[in-house]
Amino acid sequence: MNLLQIYLRVVLLFCISAVSLFAEDKSIEILAPFDKHLQKELTVNVVMKFDKKNFDTIKISTPAQMLELNVSSSKSTECKNVSLKLGENIIIIGGYKNGLLVDEKKRTVYVESQLYHQFKYPPQKFVKTYFHNEKNEKICAQCHDMSVNEVKGVAFADVTKSNCYTCHKSINKEKYGHAPSTNYLCTSCHNESNAESKYITKEPSNESCFECHDENKELWGSAKYGHEPLDSGNCTRCHNPHSSPYSMFTRKSVNDICIGCHKDKSVEAMNGSKSACNGAKNNKVCTECHTPHASNQPFFLKKISSEVKK
Ligand code: HEC
Ligand code: HEC
Ligand code: HEC
Ligand code: HEC
Ligand code: HEC
Ligand code: HEC
Ligand code: HEC
Repeated sequence: MNLLQIYLRVVLLFCISAVSLFAEDKSIEILAPFDKHLQKELTVNVVMKFDKKNFDTIKISTPAQMLELNVSSSKSTECKNVSLKLGENIIIIGGYKNGLLVDEKKRTVYVESQLYHQFKYPPQKFVKTYFHNEKNEKICAQCHDMSVNEVKGVAFADVTKSNCYTCHKSINKEKYGHAPSTNYLCTSCHNESNAESKYITKEPSNESCFECHDENKELWGSAKYGHEPLDSGNCTRCHNPHSSPYSMFTRKSVNDICIGCHKDKSVEAMNGSKSACNGAKNNKVCTECHTPHASNQPFFLKKISSEVKK
């Protein structure tokens, strides 16, 4: 931007604010997301309300995506599901008319991950906020059916008929999906509530998981050796409960997950090592020899140590 443009913008903004003293409201109201929201998924809903006379284009930008919406003359609410990246995301929402910026709003959302040191400890200003309570739902209920229409244990023949689909389809978009989530049996896990939301899950997450995976509960519970991340009950540290780009919807590829905590098993670190452990050498996948959960063999080996081939 050169000085003249800056000057013109200042003049323009001045005119706009002067005019708005007398005229209608030219601002965009952001209904979602809440500012300084903390979350785990890489998508969030952006919903804005405005006076349709004052805008012809809305531009939304996040560190992961830029998009432009043409505001049709009939619309005064725009809803969009947008992509985010791990860490801090500044979402900029700009409203334009004839190419000129009329109003701009910002929201900051933090996506945390326990599998990366740098995203594990979000700055304190970010807090988990909840959406599904009477007050918030009322705003959307003018146009969206906010009720639960799933039948316990029965998958939808057409998932687009789930009332959760329109607003949450993107959490199931990755290649490997978890059956209860991709079938929109959302409340099989989101079956608790608190003062701020009707859809929370049991903590720690293994309590939800074992409601269906009860055979694993017995198997792992009776095993001689349990892996610390499992024993702490936090299945969703490694698995995304909805979908992910990796088999078994792990949050990263198997070796990246393991090496994230066991740095001494990377290809570089194992170079020249005489250990019976192959680590990531020769393109080995850790789970070829180890189970990630629990085992009767030391080191969670799938076979006893002397049978493991290097
Ligand atoms: C004035 C009516 C109206 C209101 C109020 C409204 N929406 Fe929407 N919304 C729509 C329409 C129409 C669609 C498109 C329907 C479809 O795709 O099935 C939509 C679609 C969406 C989508 C999908 C967008 C995408 O990228 O595919 C999301 C998310 C959404 N709405 C969230 C919300 C939330 C959250 C609220 C309340 C804060 C809300 N909406 C309030 C009319 C509205
Ligand atoms: C009109 C849009 C809309 C519909 C319909 C909707 N949600 Fe949401 N939901 C949101 C928004 C907005 C958030 C805030 C986080 C985000 O943007 O992803 C949210 C957050 C959540 C959360 C996180 C906890 C919370 O309360 O913030 C859960 C769980 C959830 N939704 C489940 C569901 C389920 C289950 C259904 C179907 C019965 C459903 N949602 C239908 C818009 C919607
Ligand atoms: C297998 C259990 C399970 C199912 C099924 C499930 N969820 Fe979740 N969901 C969880 C858990 C556990 C969390 C808590 C966050 C975490 O650990 O990733 C969560 C978190 C969420 C969040 C908040 C994510 C964030 O960014 O913090 C939303 C939104 C959500 N679920 C929506 C849904 C919707 C919509 C469905 C149905 C399509 C669904 N979930 C199905 C277990 C489940
Ligand atoms: C409502 C029942 C239900 C709940 C609760 C549930 N799951 Fe599942 N899960 C299934 C079904 C059904 C399948 C697909 C059938 C199968 O392969 O066992 C599945 C498959 C899986 C798989 C892939 C297994 C394979 O061999 O492909 C993993 C991993 C998994 N679930 C992890 C979890 C985790 C982690 C949780 C808790 C966050 C959880 N599940 C909670 C029903 C559930
Ligand atoms: C340390 C990371 C980690 C944790 C924690 C973890 N998993 Fe897994 N899980 C994996 C990986 C990696 C795989 C894929 C295994 C493979 O490739 O053989 C897997 C596979 C699975 C499978 C399918 C294969 C099998 O062994 O049955 C299920 C079901 C499963 N996990 C459920 C759970 C549940 C339930 C919990 C919590 C009690 C949990 N996982 C905790 C990493 C983890
Ligand atoms: C969240 C961090 C974390 C992740 C992810 C993780 N581990 Fe671990 N692992 C630990 C901790 C903590 C211990 C127990 C402390 C110790 O003995 O080193 C442990 C112990 C082990 C042990 C036994 C060490 C011993 O001396 O008895 C093996 C083998 C192992 N992990 C393999 C794996 C594999 C394979 C994966 C990937 C599927 C994995 N780990 C993922 C944290 C992790
Ligand atoms: C070819 C089989 C094989 C593969 C692949 C393998 N391991 Fe091992 N691992 C072993 C054996 C055997 C031991 C027992 C070592 C011993 O007896 O000293 C072991 C031991 C370990 C231990 C505990 C003892 C130690 O040396 O710290 C950890 C942690 C571990 N492996 C992690 C991993 C990780 C992470 C990967 C993937 C990057 C991996 N392993 C891949 C066979 C394997």
